Amino acid sequence: MTNDEINFLLDQAILAPSGDNWQPWKFILPGNGTIELRIDFDRRLPFWDEDPGTLYLSAGAVIENIRLAAQHIGYALKADYCWSSDNPARVAVLSFQLMTSPSSASDEALFAGISRRVTNRDFYNPFRFVPAETFLKINEIAKTLDGFHLLWITRQQKKDYCKLVHFMMRADRLWMGNRSARLIMARSIRYSAAEIESMADGMDVRVMGMNPFDRLMIPLIFSPDPRLEWIHRLGIAQAFSLRTGLQLHTSSACGILLGPEGTPLDFVRAGELMERVWIALNQEGIALQPMCALPILVANVKSSGQTLISAREKEIASKLWQDFSEFIHSHSNGKKALFMFRAGYAAAPKVRLPRRKRNSFLGG
Ligand SMILES: Cc1cc2nc3c(=O)[nH]c(=O)nc-3n(C[C@H](O)[C@H](O)[C@H](O)COP(=O)(O)O)c2cc1C
Repeated sequence: MTNDEINFLLDQAILAPSGDNWQPWKFILPGNGTIELRIDFDRRLPFWDEDPGTLYLSAGAVIENIRLAAQHIGYALKADYCWSSDNPARVAVLSFQLMTSPSSASDEALFAGISRRVTNRDFYNPFRFVPAETFLKINEIAKTLDGFHLLWITRQQKKDYCKLVHFMMRADRLWMGNRSARLIMARSIRYSAAEIESMADGMDVRVMGMNPFDRLMIPLIFSPDPRLEWIHRLGIAQAFSLRTGLQLHTSSACGILLGPEGTPLDFVRAGELMERVWIALNQEGIALQPMCALPILVANVKSSGQTLISAREKEIASKLWQDFSEFIHSHSNGKKALFMFRAGYAAAPKVRLPRRKRNSFLGG
């Protein structure tokens, strides 16, 4: 493989999604045509990446983009997964072999969708439901990996959907009420064009708040200035949680990617599927927003490091997790929920989040 080809693969790789757009990856190029993918733990955010599952999910998406891009230029990807507890940063060594037949039409379509995949945090169209056959079509993609399964809970399944909405609303209320979580999230918010261009990571405020009122409130809500703390006594967390409820009630369905144990490798493999499913949904005109607050809160409950949540918050999060786990168990034959999102119809966001330059990902 030539340097230009490797660069082409890396340019597609870094379009992968990551929590708060932190792009926590590194690529080692030993010069023999392989790519070693590592997690960049220096880009791990306290609180938000306490659950390393989010990091490994995004690494999986990177691998999937490389697979699709490699096939597009005639190479089959071989991924040797090499995670170990001794060296948790090393995810996989990726090597390439010339293909004897061209990439399938469905994979070519997915390749074309890599640069158009996007997170949509807007309200969706509450009157338009995703047809059942679309769910079946997307599920075919999720079936490509043994042991994984995509569970849909649609808004028409009223009782179950309302349970899920309740879990997500409570989780969002909990983290929004936590000052540490807000201040760490604040590090990811980019307010000006200059900041967006120079940092090329984090979240442009315009994708977080889709309307002028949200955009007015975000700098106040996430301000580190203690003199503005009084705002939170006005019920911001409750209002945010209501907003989450409304967002979910304008969505067609929640998707839950189920898999085996929940080891780092399971998350990587789930991330590969996540990327395929996400691109395929976007290509059907369906918007997607991950909903990951609950597992993140629970990781903070279980954390052996510096605790950022109070005893009361721990109690609420643990109970929520217990109820959520029972819910998942009753739908999943003992599989684990590895990634959750809402899906529905909405206009595509006008703003796309940038990625850092390719070279900034290279190194040991
Ligand atoms: C593992 C993972 C978890 C995420 N969790 C959330 C989430 O809980 N809420 C949310 O709005 N976006 C979430 N995102 C979306 C990212 O913020 C988004 O991918 C990133 O900002 C890049 O934007 P893009 O997807 O539009 O390219 C998550 C993404 C990944 C990969």
